[in-house]
Amino acid sequence: AAPQEVTINGKTYQTDSWFNAPENVLALTSRKLHLEKDHPISITRQILESKFPGPTYKYHNDFDPVVSKYENFDSLGFPADHPGRARSDTYYINKDTLLRTHTSAHEAQLFGARTSPGYLISADVYRRDEIDRSHYPVFYQMEGARVWDRSTVPNGDIAAAVYADLAELPTHDIEVEDRHPPFHAERNPLQTEHHSAAEAEAIAAHLKRSLELMVVDIFSRAKAAARQQDPDFVDEPLRVRWVEAYFPFTSPSWELEVYYAGEWLEVLGCGVTKQELHINAGAPSQLGWAFGIGLDRIAMLLFQVPDIRIFWSRDARFLDQFAGVSDDLSKLQRFIPFSKHPACYKDVSFWVPLPSSADGGNDMAVSGQEFHDNDVMEIVRGVAGDTVEDVKLVDQYTRPENGRQSRCYRVCYRSLERTLTNKETNKIHLAVKSQLTKKLKVQIR
Ligand code: PHE
Repeated sequence: AAPQEVTINGKTYQTDSWFNAPENVLALTSRKLHLEKDHPISITRQILESKFPGPTYKYHNDFDPVVSKYENFDSLGFPADHPGRARSDTYYINKDTLLRTHTSAHEAQLFGARTSPGYLISADVYRRDEIDRSHYPVFYQMEGARVWDRSTVPNGDIAAAVYADLAELPTHDIEVEDRHPPFHAERNPLQTEHHSAAEAEAIAAHLKRSLELMVVDIFSRAKAAARQQDPDFVDEPLRVRWVEAYFPFTSPSWELEVYYAGEWLEVLGCGVTKQELHINAGAPSQLGWAFGIGLDRIAMLLFQVPDIRIFWSRDARFLDQFAGVSDDLSKLQRFIPFSKHPACYKDVSFWVPLPSSADGGNDMAVSGQEFHDNDVMEIVRGVAGDTVEDVKLVDQYTRPENGRQSRCYRVCYRSLERTLTNKETNKIHLAVKSQLTKKLKVQIR
């Protein structure tokens, strides 16, 4: 049964029927890898912070992961029916309280506080998602923002003030592709009631240069580490491109993609902040930009980490490889993997319960009616912990005569730290089946 209350980082919260955060996930709220000296996530944070110097930018690295639904969604203009709000995607403590799904949850608060014209927030974020080598229920994000205040810039001329700040930024010589027009009538309209096209263009130019400088630095370091340790590394010139994107709290919005090791990688999301955020935060004369970047993905590239689970490892063979880097970022080296342990694949096939059927439906199909992959993923992770590498739906069909659906998932078990015995894996897999039966009311085939 679900607990009546939970304590997270020393604070106690009442749960209700919305509660869906498993113990193994709650246990990670205290890890704070982004603050652990010499940890790759922390080193990545430090490198990014060095591109946004104080006193213009202030760093906030200890915001609590428990936020209100208002902070995480409403304050940012997420529509009531946005899929991100579903219990299939988000960990709720109760109907009004959740584990933040992104660091943007703190934007409104900081825009209101006006403590500095710019800020960076690094923090753990939580999402119910699939299981593979790049997804983990907890990961780290960095949020960045910069504002200008109409009431304090000379003559209220925001564009001039922004261009003056832009002129102070360094330049770079990387090829940048930026083909989309800055505004799109429906998807990315100019916020005409609040600012002119010239103002929005100035803010966008400052945003783009700031973020280009950040990725140029991080990818140059990744390349330097690669060249040093990998004789086969093919050194191609870095290219970046701006791609139109959509976020409920920015317009216009972009994603930045970087061409690295033969692939275009989506690196971050950003845009000109919607004026409603500043107005609702009690700072209507401010305008500016914001971005969000995933630290784990950047750290995986920078350190050549093939599996996101390793960040949670307490194995000295992992942690000791980065000793001293927090104090001297130039010592950065790629991760040297320990020997790869064998994988063990096991299938599980079952009949999905019919919605509100006589066998009781299930109390975890939290989005309501539909049976959700994420519920399966969570049970596997809950039982197998970090011995599960990947879970895939490999077969699915519906029997025409009774509408019953059958699904087959393939679970890849592999520890990063040791070889699992077949006996041990069988035991874990049996426990997975039993939890699926108990919690999701599936019928194992
Ligand atoms: N919060 C967004 C995400 O998690 C990223 C973002 C941040 C986009 C700030 C725009 C501005 O996807």
